[in-house]
Amino acid sequence: MDHFLYRNGVLHAEDVALPQIAAAVGTPFYVYSAATLTRHYQLFTEALSPLPHLVCFSVKSNSNLAVLKLLGALGAGMDVVSGGEYRRAKAAGIPGDRIVFSGVGKTRAEMRLALEGGIRQFNVESEPELHALSEVAASMGLRAPITIRVNPDVDAKTHEKIATGRKEDKFGIPIDRARAIYAEAARLPGIEVVGIDVHIGSQLTDLAPFEQAYSKVADLTTVLRADGHTITRLDLGGGLGIPYTRSNEAPPLPSDYGAMVKRTLGHLDCEIEIEPGRLISGNAGLLVASVIYLKHGEGRDFLIVDAAMNDLIRPAMYGAHHDIVPVIEPPPGAETAPVDIVGPVCESGDTFAKQRALPALTADALIAFRSAGAYGAVMSSEYNTRPLVPEVLVSGDHFAVIRARPTFDEILARDTIPEWL
Ligand code: LLP
Repeated sequence: MDHFLYRNGVLHAEDVALPQIAAAVGTPFYVYSAATLTRHYQLFTEALSPLPHLVCFSVKSNSNLAVLKLLGALGAGMDVVSGGEYRRAKAAGIPGDRIVFSGVGKTRAEMRLALEGGIRQFNVESEPELHALSEVAASMGLRAPITIRVNPDVDAKTHEKIATGRKEDKFGIPIDRARAIYAEAARLPGIEVVGIDVHIGSQLTDLAPFEQAYSKVADLTTVLRADGHTITRLDLGGGLGIPYTRSNEAPPLPSDYGAMVKRTLGHLDCEIEIEPGRLISGNAGLLVASVIYLKHGEGRDFLIVDAAMNDLIRPAMYGAHHDIVPVIEPPPGAETAPVDIVGPVCESGDTFAKQRALPALTADALIAFRSAGAYGAVMSSEYNTRPLVPEVLVSGDHFAVIRARPTFDEILARDTIPEWL
């Protein structure tokens, strides 16, 4: 469920009509619903209760400071993968002891930043990284709390660009080498082992791969404890999928996921950490655009809109489906015709949808891309010198611009022409 519904024939974000936001900020824009973000976060905490747990929102899915602040105020932790995301979490007021640091390529500077500012744990992904962290922490007179990300070699059965838990993927260390590396970690100065980490991929619509991976983590917990390690935390990663089409998708709910976690890991007396991104932010956001032209082509019609692949890259990059709906609700029984919905960028890949059934729309009509709150604004760019799309947060009957559209002067001012030209 989300809070983007038609009321009196007009699509609303909570109690705000989208044309009202369009009039204030122009199109295209991203809009997020505070109530939906809140509800999705709460679904996870409810699903994991009464186990001790921390829901660490995956900042990469939506890193706007206002979104982080809202979730942080509810008690969320954050999963960050760069010094930049760490800075965002801190700027949004998240205490260091609620921030976990993931990622295969943490630099020494990033390690130092997090150790200085406070960190709940590093999720270490390789032996060279373990050694680097040991040196950095020891040189600061600190011990870095760590988990080691194990690669359980399960197939998450998701898009190949976002599967991470197979042995051929670049992530984590093979689970059958875990004992040796934990033994190594225990010997190193500046390192304090606190748990185990696993993350097998994103947009998983079946619980079975999670369950396989978590069962392996349960076995590993017992083995590592017998080896004398203190394992008090299990970081289970993110990845639970969302419905991208209204009609025919029913991925498992957070409550189903929580029940499976309790079944596989509940007996181990560990604190559970999870890192959901998409399930919290995905269906909490829309991208709203305007129609520029309806162009009649050879045997097909193109709806050319003012959003493009640089604003929402998921269709071009993953062949991803986003439901696209008119902001003004078509009357019941209105005729539809198939159109290709495309942006203005000079690449055929700048196509959001092919032969999608839509009612007749003319220039300036508003359309909304659903499920765009995760991996939307964060993956956008200024390709074709198209300004980054503004972001708006709605709560009840009010809204605020939480990232303004840059002006062209600001964009051009970032470049410098050397004196010698
Ligand atoms: N934890 C780790 C270590 C991750 O790598 C990811 C996502 C997450 C948590 C959050 O996963 P989620 O709950 O959002 O599925 N750009 C792609 C998705 C990339 C996901 C990368 N890692 C897309 O637009 O589908």
